[in-house]
Amino acid sequence: MCGIVGYVGNKTACPILLNGLHRLEYRGYDSAGVAIIGADNELKIYKCKGKVDELENFIADKDTEGTVGIAHTRWATHGAPNNINAHPHLSQSGQIAMIHNGIIENFRVLKEALDKEGFDFRSSTDSEVLVNLIEHIRNVNGCPLEDAVRVALKRAVGAYAIAIIEKGNPNRIIAAKQSSPMAIGLGEPGEYYLSSDAASIIEYTKDFVYINDGEMAVLEKGKPLQVFSLDNEPVAFSTARLDLSISQLEKGGYEHFMLKEINEQPKTIIDCTRGRISPETLEITLNGVANNIDRFLNARRIIFVACGTSWHAALIGEHLFEDICRIPVEVEYASEFRYRNPVIFPDDVVIAVSQSGETADTLAAIELARKSGAFVYGINNVIGSSIARATDSGTYIHVGPEIGVASTKAFTGQVTVMTMMALMIAKRKGTVSDEYYREVSAALLKLPELIEETLKLDGEIAEMAKIFTYARNFIYLGRGYNYPTALEGALKLKEISYVHAEGYPAAEMKHGAIALIDAEMPSVAIVTPDSTYEKTLSNVEEVKARGGKIISVMAKGDELVRRISDFTIEVPVTTECLMPIVVSVPLQLLAYHIAVNKGRNVDQPRNLAKSVTVE
Ligand code: G6P
Repeated sequence: MCGIVGYVGNKTACPILLNGLHRLEYRGYDSAGVAIIGADNELKIYKCKGKVDELENFIADKDTEGTVGIAHTRWATHGAPNNINAHPHLSQSGQIAMIHNGIIENFRVLKEALDKEGFDFRSSTDSEVLVNLIEHIRNVNGCPLEDAVRVALKRAVGAYAIAIIEKGNPNRIIAAKQSSPMAIGLGEPGEYYLSSDAASIIEYTKDFVYINDGEMAVLEKGKPLQVFSLDNEPVAFSTARLDLSISQLEKGGYEHFMLKEINEQPKTIIDCTRGRISPETLEITLNGVANNIDRFLNARRIIFVACGTSWHAALIGEHLFEDICRIPVEVEYASEFRYRNPVIFPDDVVIAVSQSGETADTLAAIELARKSGAFVYGINNVIGSSIARATDSGTYIHVGPEIGVASTKAFTGQVTVMTMMALMIAKRKGTVSDEYYREVSAALLKLPELIEETLKLDGEIAEMAKIFTYARNFIYLGRGYNYPTALEGALKLKEISYVHAEGYPAAEMKHGAIALIDAEMPSVAIVTPDSTYEKTLSNVEEVKARGGKIISVMAKGDELVRRISDFTIEVPVTTECLMPIVVSVPLQLLAYHIAVNKGRNVDQPRNLAKSVTVE
């Protein structure tokens, strides 16, 4: 994970770097640091444990003048989150400063060799090994810094996005990447920005160059951008424009990004379906599916690969594609799939689901699938992300930047896209009636209204949250389409309130978990009118009979459910396969209010990061 940012040009670098770091904090917030070269050619490094705010306070009275600099916000992998392990790392001579996002897997071997050459290491990071390797190569070969970087990177195994500045050279940043994201922003001619995420520097430029894996760039003030391969061959590159507004990256009057993003969902569903469902004919058109329809029609199997919340969305995808398209589906944790020597057929379709499009395990699973000849499709949010580029085709969910670490609008966007995909494929396959196709299609268009109505429950849910703020364990129950919703509801609570919560298929309770039930253990039961309604009701009765407290997420006005519930969250009803989208909204709000009551850092929960670019 980690976020990196850099600037070289005529402006004062420090405010730009700090601003970028703030916007990259979703990638990690254990420690932060900055390195700047001033007019005196000296290298100034400031770094400290904690968030970017702490770095900002720490450097408030320091000399931060200079027009070239690099900065880093860290999510610790190697080495505890402390001042010493914070980036930038300095080479032993103090000449070279480097920031790094990724992991150098062979750092132990490299370190042993450098130990023998007399290098001392201050930190316990893999990154310090890399910067010293660069220095060592430069010392031995007497070569320019960029050549030393190239040679060092050929010896490094792993993932990196690095940026390097050098004492005595206030005009240049050297950058390179392999498997970790990097965008180079073009300012005035000869002025450059650099970041792990283009959105973080959008107020300075909308024009970006995305260098590829195994490439290196030299960003030199006043000169054209140069990109090379690690074999020193010049590489052609193109510029992409990112149309994003600053307001999309700000809280817009909400106390937290998460609350803003929950409330955005009526609009994000509209953005997700816009131009894809015709309000007149109810016809669904996703170009990625239309252009590759034969791959889907001939699919032996669909395999979803994903992590975290995206994996929960994929579980709903399993229901959709099996139910509507009659295609066998498997849902895999990308991190398990890639190490399991899985059987993948060339006529399988692998669908990689990822909000960020940068999750390392999902990327690796894609690589594996491609080697087996399967067709790989992406469902992503971040435009131009690594996963979007690594897949054969795909559909963006178009829900806008998601900044709160706990995913909300991306989840509902992913399920929306999966529903549109399943309907489109099913229609061509002839596994869906015209009537059902039109019913779900129309229901998708009506969803924003229903979510709007559901959001009005916020006050009620906030009151309920007060009662349950101090519960130490929760269980979330659901069946069918809403079993994954139960898992996702529980995950939201765990992530941001640090309360133990388990999602469970309601019928499975009696095979073990029901032993946990007592008056202290609230159960959030999703009991909406669907094909398992009666069965779920009985399961909830079983919990109630053992003294459990029941909070039901249920259809508005359902007397039967009211009678067995201690508390109710009454939502509007839509067609069964879309109920997870409606139901997930109050579950997001419940988790949010409990976390706020507990005084948690909702947008940046401890130990987590939004984009997990380590394996
Ligand atoms: C991290 C985030 C989760 C997210 C998961 C997968 O763990 O904290 O919220 O669901 O990564 O991320 P992706 O970007 O691939 O959907």
